[in-house]
Formats: sequence, C-alpha cells, structure tokens
Amino acid sequence: MREDIAVDLEAARTRTLTLTDIDEIDLTSQHHPLMGPLVWDLAHVGQQEDFWVLRGGDPRRDAVLPAEVDQLYDAFLHPRAERPTLPLLNARESRAFIAGVRGRVFERLERAEDLFPFSMIVQHEQQHDETMLATHQLRDGVPLLGRGAALPPPRDVARDAVLIPGGEFVLGVDADAEPASLDNERPAHVVDVPSFRLARLPVTNAEWQAFIDDAGYDTRTWWSDAGWSHRVDSGLDAPMFWAKDGSRRRFGYDEDIPADEPVQHICFYEAEAYAAWAGARLPTEVEWEKACAWDPAAGRRRRWPWGDEPPTSDRANLGGDALRPAPVGAYPAGASAYGVEQLIGDVWEWTASTLSPWPGFTPMLYATYSEPFFGPDYRVLRGGSWAVGATSIRPSFRNWDYPIRRQIFSGLRLAWDV
Ligand code: AVJ
Ligand code: FE
Repeated sequence: MREDIAVDLEAARTRTLTLTDIDEIDLTSQHHPLMGPLVWDLAHVGQQEDFWVLRGGDPRRDAVLPAEVDQLYDAFLHPRAERPTLPLLNARESRAFIAGVRGRVFERLERAEDLFPFSMIVQHEQQHDETMLATHQLRDGVPLLGRGAALPPPRDVARDAVLIPGGEFVLGVDADAEPASLDNERPAHVVDVPSFRLARLPVTNAEWQAFIDDAGYDTRTWWSDAGWSHRVDSGLDAPMFWAKDGSRRRFGYDEDIPADEPVQHICFYEAEAYAAWAGARLPTEVEWEKACAWDPAAGRRRRWPWGDEPPTSDRANLGGDALRPAPVGAYPAGASAYGVEQLIGDVWEWTASTLSPWPGFTPMLYATYSEPFFGPDYRVLRGGSWAVGATSIRPSFRNWDYPIRRQIFSGLRLAWDV
C-alpha cells in the first residue's frame, strides 16, 4: 500500500512534468478561455499537496509558499479565465516548488499512519494531468505531444444491447474495500434497479456521422428544451474538433476521423439528442455502475468490470499515452460480468444523472471536493477516458461537468427501457 502510493506519486509527477516540458510561452499563455495556463496547474498540484498532506488541511499552518502566492493557486478564489492575469510563479520556480514539497511528502509517507491524504493527492494530480491534456487539445500551433502510443486493434463484436436483469445490487463502496475511494463514492448501500438494456459498446464516430447525415443537429424533436437552445446559441453541428471536410484536429494534427473509435468531445445535450434519435436514452449512473461492477452469479461487486485484478493494457485504455480512445472491440478481456465492454477507459460516458450524495455521505478531508457541486447544475460522467490515470478510476468513480462542456474526453453509451 505505502509502496504503491510511492510508485503512483512518481508516475503522476512524471506525467505532470512531461505535459509541461514545453516552451515558457506555451506554458504561461492561455490557450482557450475555458482553461487556465498550464503553469497554473503545474504549481497548483504542489500547492494542494502542501495543503492536504503537509499542512493537514489546516489553513492556520504556514504554507511552503508565501501566503499571497499560495492563495493564487486556490481554484475557488481564482476561476480559470482569471488565471492568466495572476502574478504566478514562472516555470522554473513552479518546478522547484513542487519538487521541494514532494521531497517532504515522501518523508511523511514513510511514517504516516493514515495513507488516504496521499492517495487523494495522487488522484488530484492525475486529474489535473487530464485537465492539462484537455488544454493541450485546445491549443493551436505545432504538435507538441506526438500522435500517441499504439492501441489494440478493433474486433468484430455484436453492437447489441445487453439485458441487465432487474434486482438489487450494492451501489457505491466503503473505505475498507476501496481505500482510494473519494467521499462521493461512499458508502456502499443496496439499491434496486429495474431491468434495462445497455449497449455493449460506446457510440462510435461512424454512428455519430449517421446522426449528422440524418439532420440530427437540425431536428428539434431529438433535443430537450435546454439542449435545443444551447445547440442554437452555440451553433453546434458536429463534435468539437471535427472539421467540415470530414477530418478532425487532435493535439495539433489534422487526420481522418476513425470510424470505429468511440466518439468524443460531445456535450451532454448532444448525447441526449443522439440517444433520442437512436430510439434510446442515456443510462442513469446507478444503472451504469451496476452493469460495470455487479457480478450477478456471485452476488457481489467486482473491483473492476473484469474481476478484481488491476487494469492492464489488454483490459482498458487508460493512462494518457494513447492520446485517443481505442476502437470498439479492442478489449474483450475488459468485459464486465454482463458482457458490456469498454466501460473503463477510452471515453467518459455521459449519464442522465445529476450529482447528488449517496445516503450517508460524509465529506472527506478535502471537504469542498464534492459537496459544492451537488445539485441540478452538473451531469455525472462515468468510466474514465484514455487520459485518466489507472489508479484514479474505479467503477464507483463519479465525475461531473456542466451539460454544455465538450472540451473534456466525453462520449456516450446508449440504454433502453425493458
Ligand atoms: C472531479 C474533474 C470535476 O477538475 O474540476 C481537481 C477535479 N477538483 N481539483 C475538476 C478537481 C479539484 C474536478 N472534477
Ligand atoms: Fe485541483
């Protein structure tokens, strides 16, 4: 456990430093109004590590940075759009700062009794690595990251709807079973889920193109009221980063759109409209978690869809090196007990659910991680994308964003009533 966390800390830091190993100009400029400069994320991971691990979340204890500098990295005080105007640490200062914090964190890790704060900040850094990848994707200019690592090939597999029979299952997890679980994933509790069907595979680019070709973006019927007004106001007519000539832009490269790849860079409203057009709906997050984690024969949860063994490169596309989702059918070894594939990795899957606490919710040390976001404003995404760190995702993991957001690595999977 302690050793695993040390390895994870190193892996997250390698990612962070790789994603920020670019010119000072690229690091400090704002590439898109939705994102802060990369150099803010770089120092923010260290500032949060100082606060939650070294200071134990106590604002009365002195920060490693001078107080007026430390507060620049408070995400609640400074929204992303404002971050380029702040007197931030430069690249060299940021790297020195986070390295210094990390040295002290490793000293603490050796004698710490409670390992949760360490696990929490590893996941926090991995989340910012994903945010940094979204910033890279929004950046114009020559490619900086390459085209991505090799992925397993597609395989011919039925694009059918899998029956998930109705009945009780255990939703959520407890800390003893999943020590890395965050507050919003807990506690484990029994819920009854009526029968439904879930698509074996996520929706692909080719399937999305059929929606476009059938005037899906122009047909009011498929859209919710809120979705339609957003579609009109924002002029949506294809996923983000798709060009008119049938190509797409990905990390600075223009390339053909792979037909078999799960669609990404769609917002919740687009996902909802697509599902209506397809005669389906989005799954709730509870349905999604049952299809992902429940083993109906054993009557228990699995830690992963495929069993209790951790992710490997033949089970899921995680970790960020691929820079894209894998084609559908690429992971037969990653199927859940019900036979649903690619639930973990590839693309975040929009669900119909807003973010709310499970009964018995108790805030964790970082008490403002989840609680300020409960309510009707956000929709839940499940399963993690190719950009997510492998130790920062679980079947119980809940992500959320505004229903209009699509710079994230978001796609969808269809569900049907029975
Ligand atoms: C859980 C991905 C919505 O990036 O806004 C990072 C994670 N919270 N730092 C976000 C997070 C604080 C959060 N999401
Ligand atoms: Fe953060």
